[in-house]
Amino acid sequence: MHFLSSNPQTLTSLVLSVIAAVKAQQCSLQFDGRVPGAFSAATFDTQNNIFSPKNVFGQGSSSLYCVDVARLDQAPCSYPVAGEQIFFDDPVQYSLLRSSLPLCFKCNISDVPWRAAQFDVNTVPVEVTISDQSIFAPSANNVQTGFRRAELLIASNTGTDASTTGVKTLHFSLMKDAQRPLNLSHEYQLVFLESNDFSTNQIVLKTGTILGQATANPDTLQLFGNVKQNPPQLLFSTPFRPGAFHNFAVTLDFNALNPPKQRTTQVFFSAGASPLQAVTQALKNDVSGQGQFHFGVLKKGLDGGNDIVKNGVQEAGINEGIIFGGIFEEDSSAGCVSLSP
Ligand SMILES: *[C@@H]1O[C@H](CO)[C@@H](O)[C@H](O)[C@H]1NC(C)=O
Ligand SMILES: *[C@@H]1O[C@H](CO)[C@@H](O)[C@H](O)[C@H]1NC(C)=O
Repeated sequence: MHFLSSNPQTLTSLVLSVIAAVKAQQCSLQFDGRVPGAFSAATFDTQNNIFSPKNVFGQGSSSLYCVDVARLDQAPCSYPVAGEQIFFDDPVQYSLLRSSLPLCFKCNISDVPWRAAQFDVNTVPVEVTISDQSIFAPSANNVQTGFRRAELLIASNTGTDASTTGVKTLHFSLMKDAQRPLNLSHEYQLVFLESNDFSTNQIVLKTGTILGQATANPDTLQLFGNVKQNPPQLLFSTPFRPGAFHNFAVTLDFNALNPPKQRTTQVFFSAGASPLQAVTQALKNDVSGQGQFHFGVLKKGLDGGNDIVKNGVQEAGINEGIIFGGIFEEDSSAGCVSLSP
């Protein structure tokens, strides 16, 4: 379906009426980042058709992924038990940058006080963590010392693929890890679309103290539109509560060809097991420029001046993480948006 109305009110009711009819996840998928329980540590390091094994990780020992390897005993277990993480070095080496990758996993479904991520039905959440070693170096002379970052990128999302054309809905869920809290004095980017020329983020979910802005409560999830707008448009915000998954769906209309000739973003949200609800209308937002979706933890340093990427100050001794689940993207060109699994 193409949007034929130039009246935003009509457009919104059209979208809402269509999605109301499509609750379950029946829309055709563009990509699926949901991790099967059968995934192991080594699988993340190989070509696995879910996440890219190459980006974005730090140099040397790097990000931690916690997935369920106790699945045979305890499926569908999904959460590392406090104090029970097992660490070991993965022998697989990444090109140039990584020498070892510590991984952790150990789950016990009985200890999980919350439901799995809403769209993880037969799949498991993944934790992305950062340490002092999570310093990304896109090239030998571009070492991002002002950031600590580790992100999952979808294997099929090349930057020019169909995930950033037409009308698509990106789904993801995330929750805090009480054992690896973020430091809310810093700004974090948890999910973002980075344009293919790396010049902007068309959408970005942030938390913590956002640089250059007055942040009333840093313990908030804030979804912004294109950051080239000054100041960026706040599309939606919600408290970042402990102990629960926060489920997002973001409909991205990449078409500027059809009336009303503007690219838009509409946000759906729910907590825990509740069905998603539209929390915004389709808001004007420039999502052009294609690019790649990032899911992870990008921690910005403080007092970075003009070059925060290199000069941002980072405290030492960190162990921070965010748990992700239910990552997928569906085709919404005919108005299909899944509100529950
Ligand atoms: C899982 O957690 C429950 C409740 O805390 C505990 O009774 C049980 O022994 C645990 N199972 C394993 C395999 O650790
Ligand atoms: C949070 O970060 C600030 C700045 O990097 C640092 O001074 C402070 O010690 C950190 N707090 C905790 C609890 O780690």
